[in-house]
Amino acid sequence: MNDDRWDAVDAYATRLLQPADPVLEAAVKESAGLPNIAVSAAQGQFLHLLARAIHARRILEVGTLGGYSAIWLGRALPDDGRLISLELEEHHAEVARRNIARAGLDGKVEVRIGPALDSLARLRSDHGEPFDLVFIDADKRNTPEYFSTAVDLSHVGSLIVVDNVVRQGKLIDTETEDPDAEGMRRLIEQMGADRRLAPAVIQTVGVKGWDGFAFALVVAS
Ligand code: SAH
Ligand code: DHB
Ligand code: MG
Repeated sequence: MNDDRWDAVDAYATRLLQPADPVLEAAVKESAGLPNIAVSAAQGQFLHLLARAIHARRILEVGTLGGYSAIWLGRALPDDGRLISLELEEHHAEVARRNIARAGLDGKVEVRIGPALDSLARLRSDHGEPFDLVFIDADKRNTPEYFSTAVDLSHVGSLIVVDNVVRQGKLIDTETEDPDAEGMRRLIEQMGADRRLAPAVIQTVGVKGWDGFAFALVVAS
C-alpha cells in the first residue's frame, strides 16, 4: 500500500526543513547496493530530534545497514557522546563505516559486527554505562529479545524506539503467519505488560509506505 501524496508530503517537509546535506546524500548513494530499507529522511530527522530532546549521550542501535540512521543519531551526540551500532553483515558494516567516517563521526560511532543477540549479550556482561536511547531496527523476529535486553541496558529516563512495528497493518493480522509481524505482536504485548515502561505506538505513512514506531520510556527500574 502506497500513495503518491505521502511521498509528496515527505518531499515537501524535507525540502523546507532539511538543507542540502552532501554527507547524507553520499551515504544514500554509497548504500545503493544494499537493501533499500533505511529510515526515510523525515524519520531520520525525527530520530535526531528525539536524541537531542533527551540529551542522549550514549546511544545503542540494533541494525546499522549503511549507517544512514546512525549518522542522524550520531550527529545528535555531544562531544563526549558515543553510539554503538550492531550489524550482522560484514559488507553492510564496511559501507556504514565509510559513510560514518565521511560524516566525521568515526570518533563517536562504532559499528560492531555479528549477530545482535551475541553483541547484546556481550554488552550486558560488560556492565558498561547504560544507554540513554536505543533504536531497534534489525531482523524483526528477534525484536522482542532485543527489546528485553535494551530495557536491561537502560536507566530510568531512557527511551527505546522500535522501527517497523505496523508493517502495513500486518501487526494485527493473525490469520497469515508472518514471523516478522508475529515478532512485533509479541513486542507490543511485552511492552504493555511491563510496568517499568510508558509505551506508545505511532503509525506512519510516507516514502516508506504504511508502517510505524513503538516507543517505550523507562519510568521505573
Ligand atoms: N537502521 C538502518 C537500517 C537497518 S536495516 C537505517 O535506518 O539506516 C536492518 C539491518 O539489520 C540490516 O543491515 C541487516 O543486515 C541487519 N540485521 C539483520 N539481522 C541481524 C542480526 N541478527 N544481528 C544484527 N543485525 C542484523
Ligand atoms: C525492512 C526492514 C526495515 O528495517 C525497514 O525499515 C523496512 C523494511 C525489511 O526487512 O523488509
Ligand atoms: Mg527499519
